[in-house]
Amino acid sequence: MTANGGGPGTVSTSETGRPESGIGSVTDEDSRRDADPAETIIESRDLDVYYGDDQALQSISMEIPEQQVTALIGPSGCGKSTFLRSINRMNDLIDVARVEGDLFFRGKNVYDDDVDPVALRRKIGMVFQKPNPFPKSIYDNVAYGLRVQGEDDGDLDEQVHTALERAALLDEVEDQLETSGLDLSGGQQQRLCIARAIAPDPEVILMDEPASALDPVATSKIEDLVEELAEEYTVIIVTHNMQQAARISDKTAVFLTGGRLVEFDDTDKIFENPEHDRVEDYITGKFG
Ligand SMILES: Nc1ncnc2c1ncn2[C@@H]1O[C@H](COP(=O)(O)OP(=O)(O)OP(=O)(O)O)[C@@H](O)[C@H]1O
Ligand SMILES: [Mg+2]
Repeated sequence: MTANGGGPGTVSTSETGRPESGIGSVTDEDSRRDADPAETIIESRDLDVYYGDDQALQSISMEIPEQQVTALIGPSGCGKSTFLRSINRMNDLIDVARVEGDLFFRGKNVYDDDVDPVALRRKIGMVFQKPNPFPKSIYDNVAYGLRVQGEDDGDLDEQVHTALERAALLDEVEDQLETSGLDLSGGQQQRLCIARAIAPDPEVILMDEPASALDPVATSKIEDLVEELAEEYTVIIVTHNMQQAARISDKTAVFLTGGRLVEFDDTDKIFENPEHDRVEDYITGKFG
């Protein structure tokens, strides 16, 4: 694997005026598939994921629009987390995982040999179900990604403050930036993890059930935050909470058992008038 994944930071723009992926060179074949990058930021094409001999995702094809919230819903084990991890190649870290098919980020196949997964994950950050701050100060948690990418250039304080502010945490921690991230409440820890994920200025934020371990007040803060983040970023969020998906997402993808994407449409359509009976049964709680 070569490590020429392109520079971090702001989005470069191609001669066409369209943003480039910044994670490797785009081949003709890639750009041919990339019909409308201004609208589609992530596209999966016939994506299969296996764990050893077991197939967890079957031929997933989906175009995810930029600067919107896309919710992934479906019963336990249907492959939502697997799909999320395949977007920023977190599945690389699982020995038995194997990905077939294509996954494009701004027209660039993230599984191409010239893509650096570390550079990719700066563009496509991730927040997990269980808040996982590092055993470091609040400041160092947020600064972590910036230091890794060598952007410790004196603006670090400002970047840390900005990220905390965007994550709606600054007001609560401004006077205690040197205390441990682990001393915060669960809801605050999750917002700290969101600050850490957005500090390197990614374009896409993947969230795997980010509020499932939180109380209703903290959950509602995360939901407000997701909607705000979508003004600047593309958010792809897994949730088991139907009301949450209906409230905060623009698009909803329904995965069902067997690792299949059954329906993907505007959230209103999915919740008010889905095409498939199985989707209706799932969202009305008849199974799952
Ligand atoms: N690291 C792994 N090794 C082997 N199999 C795995 C691994 N992770 C997931 N799987 C399998 O892949 C399938 C999909 O799992 P995944 O975690 O993506 O589902 P999910 O929709 O996120 O479920 P949940 O709602 O419970 O989080 C399941 O059958 C699961 O057992
Ligand atoms: Mg999961």
